[in-house]
Amino acid sequence: MQNKISYKLIFLIFLISLVVTSISVYIQIKKQYENQLNSFEKSLNSIEKNQVPILSQSLWNIDDLAVNIFLKNLVNNEKVIYAEIIENDEKTISVGKIKKINIIKKEFEIEKVIDSKIHKIGELIVIADLAPMYKELKSNVISIIFTEIIKMLLISLSIIFFMKKLLTNPLEKMALYANQLSLENLHKPLKINNTTKAKFNELNILTESINTMRVNLIKQINQSEEKNNILAQQSKLAAMGEMIGNIAHQWRQPLSLITTTASGIKLNYEIGALDKEKVDNYTSKIINSAYYLSDTIDDFKDFFKPNKNKKYFKISNAFERTFTLLNSQFINNNISFIKNIEDIEIYGFENELIQVLINILNNAKDELINKKDQKLFIFIDVFFKDNNVCICIKDNAGGIEDSVINRIFEPYFTTKHQSQGTGIGLYMSEEIVSKHMKGKLSVQNVDFEYEHINYKGAEFKIVINKNEKKDQKLEDI
Ligand SMILES: Nc1ncnc2c1ncn2[C@@H]1O[C@H](COP(=O)(O)OP(=O)(O)O)[C@@H](O)[C@H]1O
Ligand SMILES: [Mg+2]
Repeated sequence: MQNKISYKLIFLIFLISLVVTSISVYIQIKKQYENQLNSFEKSLNSIEKNQVPILSQSLWNIDDLAVNIFLKNLVNNEKVIYAEIIENDEKTISVGKIKKINIIKKEFEIEKVIDSKIHKIGELIVIADLAPMYKELKSNVISIIFTEIIKMLLISLSIIFFMKKLLTNPLEKMALYANQLSLENLHKPLKINNTTKAKFNELNILTESINTMRVNLIKQINQSEEKNNILAQQSKLAAMGEMIGNIAHQWRQPLSLITTTASGIKLNYEIGALDKEKVDNYTSKIINSAYYLSDTIDDFKDFFKPNKNKKYFKISNAFERTFTLLNSQFINNNISFIKNIEDIEIYGFENELIQVLINILNNAKDELINKKDQKLFIFIDVFFKDNNVCICIKDNAGGIEDSVINRIFEPYFTTKHQSQGTGIGLYMSEEIVSKHMKGKLSVQNVDFEYEHINYKGAEFKIVINKNEKKDQKLEDI
């Protein structure tokens, strides 16, 4: 019974039983007191009816002995402690001791009928002691209070016992179940050993609701997992689209070299100037270009291989591979990289980091190509600080508008034209960094100076803890 409601209930039960008990004790005692007092008065009054006529005869006969015996008999009665007779001539006869408190005093006139006329011949005073009655009442009160307290305790204890068994225990079990509920044991339903089998019992209804909530949760998790899978798929497709654009770029030059070389062979053959040296020269040019084409295809193929195992890899290596995949478009658009990359190894999926870098660099490129009359830069800093690896990528494209900067990591958020933007890139990058690399991806607009010119741009920062355990659970996208 650690919870407060149980304590409150017990306190209330005690309080209510105490009030009820007190009232019932009061009523019982008052009734007893009134009954006893009544019977007391009745027995005293019966003296007047039954005894006084006998006394009147003795008094008339001036039989002092009989009067004395009469008085002694009266006082022998357990209640009467004093009896006194005052005769008409002021002569008094008394038996017993007088007391001042806790008494009832009764006065009876003693009369004699002579010639049909009533004559007063004296007065009888009787004093009865109430103390024995009070004593008896007191012991009754004590026994009543005692039995009522025991009754109250028994009732309260049995209420507490049943409350604990029927209510508190199942509720505590439910609380424990709710506390321990996690993704791993979500399939385990809540079971309460309810003693009553009634289907519409409150606890059964509550248990049912918790289980329904659990089932709904499982459904929603499955749905959101499905959504995430779709997003991951879409993001890979989007990346692939951008890659194909790059392949086309990178292939343009070797392909045109192959075409011009082939036309060279044809032309030289037609004018009869094709000797062995020229054939060797032309074929090696064609073979080299073909090798180049095949190499670039291998780079892209590697990137799209599914993730297998986490491993240690150099961040500089991940950047090299990213540049191989993207370089041509950046060179074509006159975008320069200012690199300052420390030689640091981290643990994880290299391809995933490359995917994040491609997303950030492509976004920077998309903004930079809209800039005219300025040099275009992307600054890359990789360094180690406070046990964290920081990767900072900053451009000088003017930054992100304040009204949207908080939304750019949302899925499907894009400011680009439908044919250009999907809005998945940064969402997926943030998922990869936070869920798979246990790191943090953040963005801010920065003002800075480079080569004596002031610029503004967006700075993306990836912070990964270097102590990330090697044996951590593998999570696939
Ligand atoms: N370097 C940047 N400079 C300015 N805006 C950016 C930059 N990087 C991203 N953004 C903004 O973030 C939005 C979301 O980017 P992203 O999730 O990659 O989707 P997409 O590139 O398909 O629009 C972009 O549409 C753009 O408005
Ligand atoms: Mg993008």
